[in-house]
Amino acid sequence: QDSVVPGELGDPAVRAAEVPEPGAVTIVVPTFNESANVRRLLQLITESVPARLPCEVVFVDDSTDDTPQVIREAAQDCPFPVTVLHREEPAGGLGGAVVEGIKAAGSDWIVVMDGDCQHPPSLVPDLVATGERANAGLVVASRYIKGGSRAGLAGSYRVAVSRGATWLTKALFPRRLHGISDPMSGFFAIRRSVVTAEVLQPLGYKILLELAVRSRPRQVTEVPFVFQDRFAGESKSTAREGLRFLRHLVGLRTASPVARMVVFGLIGATGFVPNLLGLYALTGLGMHYLPAEIVANQFGVAWNFLLIERLLFRDRRRHRRLWDRLCRFALLANADLVLRIPLIALLVGAFGMGVLPATALALVTTFVLRFIGTEALVYLP
Ligand code: GDD
Ligand code: MN
Repeated sequence: QDSVVPGELGDPAVRAAEVPEPGAVTIVVPTFNESANVRRLLQLITESVPARLPCEVVFVDDSTDDTPQVIREAAQDCPFPVTVLHREEPAGGLGGAVVEGIKAAGSDWIVVMDGDCQHPPSLVPDLVATGERANAGLVVASRYIKGGSRAGLAGSYRVAVSRGATWLTKALFPRRLHGISDPMSGFFAIRRSVVTAEVLQPLGYKILLELAVRSRPRQVTEVPFVFQDRFAGESKSTAREGLRFLRHLVGLRTASPVARMVVFGLIGATGFVPNLLGLYALTGLGMHYLPAEIVANQFGVAWNFLLIERLLFRDRRRHRRLWDRLCRFALLANADLVLRIPLIALLVGAFGMGVLPATALALVTTFVLRFIGTEALVYLP
């Protein structure tokens, strides 16, 4: 980490003492190879922010190009402190960078914005003023309310993806995202006091979503903005970033054990496809249907294992080796099958239940037991 501030200030502690004016703002900018944009961004901030609101700028940089040096040079002409935190290990991507910046911020208000000039700096003082006026903890700059637009979102493909993702996300978190029309926005103001840094698990681009869901700011408001064209270069988002977003959604949605059980069940239900395909292939090859059932069941088990490893328990794999996890998982899945028949016999024979309700009860019971067993014996928290 290294800090660069015009004048002698370089130490964050000194810097924090420099910006405590009430209502001051720390502008946090994540950058990844934005050397052609950062000078322009600092110029735009210089023109439109300090006259209305005392500010400092914190860049959190994961670049492999000379972005930090360019920032350092441009900072010489800035009438406000500029800090560059360069990360050697870019954990969490864009979101991880923003959380680092928030931790280093010296002001009560933090505005997060992109480093490519797609977010107009002239709106920074308005975001903070709106937050103060509404006594809000979070102010979102939205493309989707009156006065806003997504002019800079190039191509109908990206527009469609963005719309679909916004819709899905709002459907998954109706309460937490109430009053937020643009949970995908990368431009927002947040009070430092509402950020619960300890519980955040940032993963990729959607840091606002992470904050809204896990830090749960009580009062939220929005300000419209026009998403500009990039000043230079291209978006750093990739297909890999799309997969990361899906994992982020699953991670956010499965914070509670009940939610995890539902996802576990949904994944389990998809296992019937490889199971049936396996059965079809094996009996087609002339295998007797009973051993084929047993083998085909392992196809379903393998499929479930793969999805559960990748999506549900991705962060809980380190406690055991892959083979250990696979054996335990397969054992539990087959025990489920073996246990079910005697359990049904018991419910029908000893408790006089009908066959159908007994089967339903046994299915639910062995499913819950399998989920609890998988959490406790395969993937330790
Ligand atoms: N430190 C760091 N680390 N910064 C990153 C990383 C990373 O891994 N990846 C991207 N950035 C920086 C970029 O350098 C840029 O300053 C900012 O994050 C946004 O990246 P872009 O690649 O320009 O994003 P975008 O324009 O495709 O997406 C923007 O708009 C979306 C809404 O359509 C972002 O604001 C998204 O968060 C937003 O959802
Ligand atoms: Mn961009």
